[in-house]
Amino acid sequence: MMSLKDIDLTGKKVLVRVDFNVPMDDDLGITDDIRIRTALPTIQHILEHQGRLILCSHMGRPKGKRVDKFSLAPIADHLSRLLDREVKLAPDCIGDEVEALVNSLGNGDVVLLENLRFHQGETENDPEFSKKLARLADIYINDAFAVSHRAHASVVGVAELIETRGAGFLLETEMEYFHKSMDDPIRPLVALVGGAKVSSKLGALENMLDKVNSMIIGGAMANTFLKSMGVKVGASKTEDDLIPAAKQFIEKAEEKGVKLYFPVDFIVADSFAADAVTKTVTFRDIPENWMALDIGPATTLLFQEALADAGTIVWNGPMGAFEMDAFARGTMAMCRAVASSQALSITGGGDSNAAIKKSGEAHNISYMSTGGGAFLMLMEGKTLPGVDILKR
Ligand code: 3PG
Repeated sequence: MMSLKDIDLTGKKVLVRVDFNVPMDDDLGITDDIRIRTALPTIQHILEHQGRLILCSHMGRPKGKRVDKFSLAPIADHLSRLLDREVKLAPDCIGDEVEALVNSLGNGDVVLLENLRFHQGETENDPEFSKKLARLADIYINDAFAVSHRAHASVVGVAELIETRGAGFLLETEMEYFHKSMDDPIRPLVALVGGAKVSSKLGALENMLDKVNSMIIGGAMANTFLKSMGVKVGASKTEDDLIPAAKQFIEKAEEKGVKLYFPVDFIVADSFAADAVTKTVTFRDIPENWMALDIGPATTLLFQEALADAGTIVWNGPMGAFEMDAFARGTMAMCRAVASSQALSITGGGDSNAAIKKSGEAHNISYMSTGGGAFLMLMEGKTLPGVDILKR
């Protein structure tokens, strides 16, 4: 895979796929700009090396139509402030007007194309749409790790059409950290996995069994595993169709000598609400109509111990409904445990990253991936279409 630093950029039109799909609030605007700031090294390198920079991104899922709330206008303003220079927003991402604008760029100038997903061709990887995008540039750079699991036009189709193509610095860093933690880890390698659904993570869990020394499973997904072992989980969320798969997974872990950790106590609530009545119970005592919404204090201690001697920690998914303060304690304790560990720690996924941010421990994590779906796809042992095409 060619690196941006090996490409001669002077006077060249460089199309960079970034992922500026950032969380937006109607009143506050951009609420987390990490995906913009992590693209800055690539952007600055191209500008310093006298490239003519064309940035492109999606935002939200506008389904092929122009939807004002998904315009990249606020991103262009924000990026202008971060770079302390003008960032023009193109009226669209393809078409005559855009081509004229791109052709008017001088060396070291930058333009941001309007939301790629205003065109159906983007998500359909339509060859005609790809051709129109490819016409804009001499060089293609992918710096959008977080969308590299999607075989979309700006990720795959365009890359196929532009001979000089390579990886931006963010994409390289993401892949390096993932490789370091999963393929060549300092052992013991411990996976901390949580979140709501077993169904969305079963592939990742199964693949990880061949890599990790131990695995800690929390969050609502733990309920299905506990139920498969005969634990009565009351009104807690479960995926009953996955009980046989959960059972098999536990057996496989045993065969492979991977130690599994599950919660031994919970904060249970009489409803899924911030002001619900709560109590702490052991896994044997979950009342019939109550639901487990966080791990309890004994589990927190158990999980902290399981993390204590780790050489590498890979974390995806919270331990409970941490968005409500009443059920955040377990996840916050895991943030502190991972942050204070000597291990190389890598986290991915919107929820775990939001939790780490909330805990104030982000600076003590070795690497927080910008990817959600892309991170999970790597955990599943699959390759990313956006990376594969750069290697071809
Ligand atoms: C993400 O936020 O995970 C990426 O930007 C991909 O977005 P998508 O799930 O809408 O393709």
